[in-house]
Amino acid sequence: MYFSSRKLRRCQFLQVLATCFIVSFMLMWVQDDNDIVNHIKSYSYRYLINSYGFVNSSLTVMREKSDGSRNFKYLINNKDKCQEDEVLLLLFVKTSPENRRRRDAIRYTWGNEDSIRSQYAVNIKVMFALGVDKDPIKRSLQQKQLDMENKVHHDLVQQDFLDTFHNLTLKFLLQFGWVNNYCRNAKFIMTADDDIFVHTPNLISYLKDMDLMGVRDFWIGRVHRGAPPIRNKQSKYYVPYEMYPWGSYPDYTAGAAYVVSQDVAAKVYEASQTLNTSLYIDDVFMGICANKMGIVPQYHLFFSGEGKAPYHQCIYNRMITSHGHVDDLHYLWKQATDPKVKDLTSGFWGHAYCKLVNIILLCRIRYLDTYSCSAAWS
Ligand SMILES: *[C@@H]1O[C@H](CO)[C@@H](O)[C@H](O)[C@H]1NC(C)=O
Ligand SMILES: *[C@@H]1O[C@H](CO)[C@@H](O)[C@H](O)[C@H]1NC(C)=O
Ligand SMILES: *[C@@H]1O[C@H](CO)[C@@H](O)[C@H](O)[C@H]1NC(C)=O
Repeated sequence: MYFSSRKLRRCQFLQVLATCFIVSFMLMWVQDDNDIVNHIKSYSYRYLINSYGFVNSSLTVMREKSDGSRNFKYLINNKDKCQEDEVLLLLFVKTSPENRRRRDAIRYTWGNEDSIRSQYAVNIKVMFALGVDKDPIKRSLQQKQLDMENKVHHDLVQQDFLDTFHNLTLKFLLQFGWVNNYCRNAKFIMTADDDIFVHTPNLISYLKDMDLMGVRDFWIGRVHRGAPPIRNKQSKYYVPYEMYPWGSYPDYTAGAAYVVSQDVAAKVYEASQTLNTSLYIDDVFMGICANKMGIVPQYHLFFSGEGKAPYHQCIYNRMITSHGHVDDLHYLWKQATDPKVKDLTSGFWGHAYCKLVNIILLCRIRYLDTYSCSAAWS
């Protein structure tokens, strides 16, 4: 009985597999730039074959050839930032010269190292990674202001490349190069956008647990699986065939925020040194580096994608990141770290209430690109 049902299941599985193959081959004949077609193709590739060795081998460049173009001079550095012997987390915020207001908001809310140290007895380091202003007229004044800002806060790392969207991979190399040179003692490294909210207390308690378990090959965030390159020239994320000819990217975590352990940072840095860096989408580039080293990302349900998390105590209780916060950062920080949150959401009734609220908030049909419905059930 048991045997035959297993056989049946295998048979069904093979049927599904064959159908997928046929469908994907048929679709290859259809128009090539169709978005839906691209998605179906890339997902079927991801779930049926899932091997990206060719990406690795064809984007690998000689170490000698790869240098030059990637070693930009540091204009502002804080080499000693990681001197303390125990650093739980080095958190890089990708920012741009003109975003002073965002940096300040972070410094006074979730990125306040001193208050974290006094309240949670751990060292975290928050650094801002940036290039130079793309406008040559504004640049010299801008640079003076940045120097002054750094004199006050000692938390900028700036290299001499233009700070543009299409140079994000250079900013990525700046971060991982800096870790490799100056911060090998941090247990975890995070990289995040400057319009993100990080629930630092929740993150710290999670990372402390991970540290106790002695995790290695650790890479978490919101994972994109089988994402196809965007071939629409109007899109910000457009990638031409010459740059990436294949139908799907290796798995990667959304660049809005992800965390890796020190060993992963070291391996990714190593891989980045022998890869062609022309692919300007930094999180995809990270995925290619990791893939080269055989590291796979894990999905954390409370890392948000492009969207904002709903404002609610039952969410604050568990959230790690939420995207798209500029003006409401102070408000959210105050709300999310209010001790009342823990009281309201603990105990049997607190749990039951929050489960219900989370299901209502996260399992709506309308897709908001925030935490997935499964986060409500977890
Ligand atoms: C990236 O930065 C380099 C160095 O400043 C610059 O030459 C190049 O034009 C920039 N690329 C883009 C796409 O902005
Ligand atoms: C990197 O890839 C680009 C195409 O995207 C190519 O033009 C360039 O020559 C490559 N660089 C190296 C060093 O192979
Ligand atoms: C990636 O390519 C390099 C050089 O071609 C090779 O040494 C390495 O083993 C490859 N890694 C994987 C995971 O295939």
